[in-house]
Amino acid sequence: MPWFVLAACALLLLMGNWFRRLSATLGAQLIEDRWSAAARFDLEEARSTAIASRRACRFFFWTLLVGYLAYVAVKGTPMYGYVMEWINLTVRWTHVIAGIMWIGASFYFIFLENNLNRTHGLRDELAGNLWAIHGGGFYYLEKYKVAPKVIPAHLHWFKYEAYFTWLSGFALLFIVYYTDARSFMIDPAVALLSPAASVAIGIGSMILGYAIYDRMCSSRLILRQDLFALVGMLILGVMTYALTHLLSGRAAFIHVGAVIGTIMVGNVFFTIIPSQKALVRAAKTGQPLDASLGQKAGQRSLHNNYLTLPVVFLMISNHFPSTFGHSWNWLILMVMVAASAGIKHYWNLLERGVKRTGVLVTSVLALVLMSVAVSPAFEDSLDAAIPASFEEANAVIQAHCVQCHSANPTDDQWAAAPNGVMYDTPEQIAAMADKIMIRAVRTKTMPQGNKTGMTDEERTILKRWILQGARIQ
Ligand code: HEC
Repeated sequence: MPWFVLAACALLLLMGNWFRRLSATLGAQLIEDRWSAAARFDLEEARSTAIASRRACRFFFWTLLVGYLAYVAVKGTPMYGYVMEWINLTVRWTHVIAGIMWIGASFYFIFLENNLNRTHGLRDELAGNLWAIHGGGFYYLEKYKVAPKVIPAHLHWFKYEAYFTWLSGFALLFIVYYTDARSFMIDPAVALLSPAASVAIGIGSMILGYAIYDRMCSSRLILRQDLFALVGMLILGVMTYALTHLLSGRAAFIHVGAVIGTIMVGNVFFTIIPSQKALVRAAKTGQPLDASLGQKAGQRSLHNNYLTLPVVFLMISNHFPSTFGHSWNWLILMVMVAASAGIKHYWNLLERGVKRTGVLVTSVLALVLMSVAVSPAFEDSLDAAIPASFEEANAVIQAHCVQCHSANPTDDQWAAAPNGVMYDTPEQIAAMADKIMIRAVRTKTMPQGNKTGMTDEERTILKRWILQGARIQ
């Protein structure tokens, strides 16, 4: 790890220096008086990109260096947990605030799109306008069909909220999951991975997810919104299934969220902002405007809008073990994603004055049915219906409990039955049925430390037998 951090710091320093020289060279060229409007525009753009890149290098250099030094200074000391908690808090706070700004802007602009007056008293160049009142002030907005004839000097861009959301989220993955991959990424009951492999799977899934999505966007699929959504859901389903069968449930959920978040920020970085830059360039240099640029950006921005509700669920999912901890966790995740995107669809249509109650009802019903199907009560009623005889239950107990719970324990540690609890006779077992349910089925705190290697299937046999009345004939 140290060599990796130092190498990254050195690289950032070198790159920062390179961008500094580049911006100086470009600045010097700009003073010369031999450029066409287009060439001058490109030079100015390149120069401001170089300046922004240099600032980014400097920012990451210091964050990485200070963060790493803090980590080294406290690692192995009693201060470690405390300092990590503050780092976690600071980065998470940033992440949530940037996320609110980003998603807020997404909601707001899709709201504008849906609510524009597109018909009454519009100038030719306008696509629509909207009056609003907020915070005691009246606002009037106009949307242009393509672009105004003159690009205003002060044009507001929306991109840093997206970039900071992703960067702080990526940093959080390291702080929460990757610095202790053994405890947070890996679940031996799911797959026996090395920490490095689990981290590689996590980061690899984000790159793969964006690559697949981007490929889909440049295929003919993009012409059919419904098919696009269907294929997208299927692919996400496969990825989710794979991740939940490789990583711990909690890590799998956050990584599906990270895949979706990466797609969203990738849309901003690779498509929306470049398309907007091309539009501004054309408008400023008097070239014909390519309306398809705006459409492409609009498409991606609409995709992002549909992904907002799913991604927010996935980001808070780690507080809800009954979702990520369930054995059907991948299915729960997919229903949550599909239903919440459905709710966003209903909501978008409603803003346009189209009321599709069916979409809302189907989405909410899917959530309710799913939550019933995975509830312990429903599972119990299924288990109560599958017969399990005393012979089967007894076989499990004789194989896993009597090493300790017997008049003659064979365990190396317990010479006498713990708490006097013995399972030598059918009557003794039946009398303890309720406690067996709690300790060996619900809380899985017996066998102690699972010393005798009891499986979930064996626990289910005990559960069925007890749910059917714990009868011994
Ligand atoms: C390695 C030894 C060991 C094995 C094997 C073991 N137990 Fe226990 N059990 C203990 C000890 C020690 C205690 C007392 C401490 C405690 O409650 O955790 C205990 C307590 C219990 C209690 C609580 C008794 C009370 O008075 O509240 C129950 C119920 C129980 N065990 C059930 C089981 C069942 C069912 C199995 C088999 C599936 C099992 N145990 C296997 C060691 C063991």
